[in-house]
Amino acid sequence: MGAVFLRDLRHEYPVAVRATGMHIYDSAGKAYLDMSGGATVSCLGHQHPDVIEALQDQIGTMAFAHSAFFTNLPQEKLADALSVRFGEEGAKTYFTSGGSEANETALKMAWQYWRILGQPRKTKIISREHSYHGNTLATLSASGNPARRAPMSQVLEDWPRIDPCYAYRYQRDDESEAEYAIRAANALEATLLREGPETVAALIVETVGGASLGAVTASAGYFHRIREICDQYEILLIADEIMCGTGRTGTFFAYEQEGFLPDIVTLAKGLGGGYQPLAATIARHKIAQLFAAEGNAFDHGHTYVGHASTCAAGAGVVDAIEKYQLLGAVIHQGHLLHDRLVEHFRDHPNVGDIRGRGLLRAIEFVVDKHHKTPLPNGPALARQLRDTAMRYGLICYPGGGSPGHGCHILFAPPFILTDTHIDEMITKLDSILDEVFDV
Ligand SMILES: Cc1ncc(COP(=O)(O)O)c(C=O)c1O
Repeated sequence: MGAVFLRDLRHEYPVAVRATGMHIYDSAGKAYLDMSGGATVSCLGHQHPDVIEALQDQIGTMAFAHSAFFTNLPQEKLADALSVRFGEEGAKTYFTSGGSEANETALKMAWQYWRILGQPRKTKIISREHSYHGNTLATLSASGNPARRAPMSQVLEDWPRIDPCYAYRYQRDDESEAEYAIRAANALEATLLREGPETVAALIVETVGGASLGAVTASAGYFHRIREICDQYEILLIADEIMCGTGRTGTFFAYEQEGFLPDIVTLAKGLGGGYQPLAATIARHKIAQLFAAEGNAFDHGHTYVGHASTCAAGAGVVDAIEKYQLLGAVIHQGHLLHDRLVEHFRDHPNVGDIRGRGLLRAIEFVVDKHHKTPLPNGPALARQLRDTAMRYGLICYPGGGSPGHGCHILFAPPFILTDTHIDEMITKLDSILDEVFDV
């Protein structure tokens, strides 16, 4: 046992010593096929030469200059690139080091926005059940992940939560997709009327549900109605795209495929691609403009805000996505991955649903397909799936911490995924499921 306070001190971890492309290698020389980019991070795969060059150039020139004294060229470049993709003139990006910080920044923006506008009572943050927005006290308060909340429950805020749009479990047999989408979205209106919109600052949602629900896409029309309600009752709409953004679903932002524009969108994970710890909070013009006015400074800041080398890596990632036309690859390989999962695992007795978008895909496991009965031991099973997969040399991202729905495996491979990698994964997954479910 070393001196590191490991993520889980009861667990024995292999030592990762080298990585390239789709693989990580441990100190014993064993190769692991990285089918989840760790936790949806390594979107370009490991050791991408373009990003390494961008990073080395910046570190060789100027690694860091504190944001209280300077701006720097990499953060200016990356903010411009994100602004163009965001699609609204005047949007501005605040750079931090991780997803929790990006969402914390978004919440602080929302609170201060309303305070400046003379509505200081607007403090509640509405979120959705089975969501995850981070591990700081504010972002965990705004998360609907029971397993992660439970150990901290005595210090968390208990803000209102609505059910997610999750057709596999919540759409009734007697309603169409469109009817269900409206019913699911209207839960927001009911909650606002109950709480009083004058007490609510924002709704925070993952555009595509990530690790807590497992790649759940909203029913068509849901986000249109959500946007309408946020506008009508004057609350900000924060899209958490820390997992599903940066091209993961086939468009740079996942909301582009849902036909709405959030007031604030957050990115992390894939934005730094694992090369640097980078996150972004992008605010619409109306918000940025308010903080640009005399007397309205945004009261926030961390030491590594807008870190030059970190932003250089982010700019390298965004450039590479464009240069190698990786959004097209995400769509193409995403369909292929989905088809192969369906072909191989559709008839497995414990496979309830196979779903997702682009290269964010998941399998949800159940006790029986017909009744969709959730597995009773989700967290333990998720751990077993992770450990068994590691033994087979496969990195994937199992989750199972939400009572009332099944355990799942999330796949979020690098955008350089080939058909051969999919073949390798299917073969391994076959054996892993046989072993874990004993069929
Ligand atoms: C949707 C979403 N939001 C926020 C976070 C928190 O990001 P981080 O772990 O970088 O703080 C995560 C992390 O998994 C996430 O998936």
